[in-house]
Amino acid sequence: NQLATHGHRLFVDVHTHVYLPRYASFLRSRTTAPRIFSRPNTDNADGTSEERLLILDNEPSGGRPVGPQYWDREEKLKFMDRHGIDVSIISSANPWLDFLPASTAHTLANELNEDLETYCSTSPTLTGLHNLKRLYGFGLLPLVPSAPISSLLETIDQISKLPHLRGIIMGTKGIGKGLDDDALEPVWEALAKTGLVVFLHPHYGVDSNAWGEKENGHVLPLALGFPFETTTAITRLILSGTFDRHPTLRILLAHSGGTLPLLSSRLASCIAHDPLVASRLQHDARHYLGNLYFDAVAYGAEELGFVSDVIGRAGAYEGKAGRKDADGKVGLDERRRVGSERMLFGTDHPFFPPLSETEKWMSVVENLDAIESVDGWTEKEKDAVRGGNALKLFGLS
Ligand code: URA
Ligand code: ZN
Repeated sequence: NQLATHGHRLFVDVHTHVYLPRYASFLRSRTTAPRIFSRPNTDNADGTSEERLLILDNEPSGGRPVGPQYWDREEKLKFMDRHGIDVSIISSANPWLDFLPASTAHTLANELNEDLETYCSTSPTLTGLHNLKRLYGFGLLPLVPSAPISSLLETIDQISKLPHLRGIIMGTKGIGKGLDDDALEPVWEALAKTGLVVFLHPHYGVDSNAWGEKENGHVLPLALGFPFETTTAITRLILSGTFDRHPTLRILLAHSGGTLPLLSSRLASCIAHDPLVASRLQHDARHYLGNLYFDAVAYGAEELGFVSDVIGRAGAYEGKAGRKDADGKVGLDERRRVGSERMLFGTDHPFFPPLSETEKWMSVVENLDAIESVDGWTEKEKDAVRGGNALKLFGLS
């Protein structure tokens, strides 16, 4: 029935989360954030209780309500059916294992990777396509302070042998010092070698002092803090020369790369004025955007068009000499086409649930509308962003 919806052009959701049952139980056993706790239902005084998810210290509004959408696979499949999503590449939701001691993180990572493999391998087969399941996944690495590098490499090896896991999701802290930590070099090397896709996703936002004293709920940390965090993390990784050493690394940036697309020329200019940094890099900063993948979770057509322009011009910045002459001849349509090949539909399910009963989730409808409405993307490019690019990136075609 999925195929009937849009012919052979599959919809693939690359940004869709789960708290696996083992992880949710673990959060229920905790008394400090991150945790899941019960409290009397505030919507009605009928004596029922509701579960809430608290994942940050000082989180506004006592956290967020959570329910089966967050852990039940049937709910994920129902959501996919309702929105015409054929395949989902499932990732654990933040904060992953970040808060755990190294040995617990290692054990839990291995168990959760096995759990996710089972979650995916026992999912329905896509109607009419006998070799494709409806669910694939991103595994977890035990990236926690003072994690031995050997435990990270072992887990990369584990994930690369689990056939339905096609990548890993990671936050921005590395093993405590961020992603530009020299100690992580063997990890990037192993990830580049295995071809696992690294989904870089925020959790911490930025210093909450920036948000002032007005009650703005989750709006500022989610709308701004999340993308700022991603921007800083990927920029530091670029500045560390990691993409010069490992040009085949495949990194997928959450939320369309945060603010990196808008700031990449400013970044290039700041680098050009800083010889110490400039001497470390083989290319103009704008070049590296062409090594990256960007989800299309930006909620607006103009934003998606802009991101594709910026990715699409990366090829004009090989070396450090600024734009190659050829760039003047590459028109907007061509840049948008080239850039669109690195953009992939996502929903951020089960976050941003509808506040009242509705058939379709606004977060999904808006992201699909945005793709549909990008100026200069042909039907072929839109189809690729909705699914074809993901099938290629994750080796599903
Ligand atoms: N809020 C989160 O905590 N994580 C997401 O991925 C999206 C919203
Ligand atoms: Zn997300």
